[in-house]
Amino acid sequence: MKLLLFFIMTTSIFANEVLFDEYCVSCHFKEKISFKQMKAQRQHLKAPPISVVMERIKKHIVVKIDDEDVQKAVVVAYMQDYVLEPSIDKGICHVNCYVQFGTMPSQKGKVPPKALKQIVSWVYDTY
Ligand code: HEC
Repeated sequence: MKLLLFFIMTTSIFANEVLFDEYCVSCHFKEKISFKQMKAQRQHLKAPPISVVMERIKKHIVVKIDDEDVQKAVVVAYMQDYVLEPSIDKGICHVNCYVQFGTMPSQKGKVPPKALKQIVSWVYDTY
């Protein structure tokens, strides 16, 4: 039973990564790289790597309640909204990021809402 549970858990984590590969990786490089490394190779990138995005989001979106579940829920909700309705007004990327890459094109109608929820939760847990 334990083994089965482990199998289900690992395959579902894997499935979420596959969804990221399907809907996001064409623009967001998924290897963990530092801000410095990103700067060095930014002319080859279409968007900031997801590890750099998450580092910044986790630094800037901080809830006052010391509760990891609440923190995750707020960040996940922010990202779900941003992917569907991106705008420089609400974005937390540095202004240079917008100059370099432009605003992210909305993924509305491209990524199914259920898949998006799984993707952003996986991204939060992974980076
Ligand atoms: C066509 C290219 C493209 C695709 C596909 C794409 N993104 Fe982006 N994304 C960008 C660019 C460019 C930025 C940087 C500018 C910005 O923040 O709008 C960005 C920024 C972001 C940000 C930071 C938002 C902020 O606060 O500034 C998040 C989070 C994000 N993307 C998540 C995703 C997820 C999750 C997916 C897959 C469902 C995805 N993106 C698919 C191009 C893309």
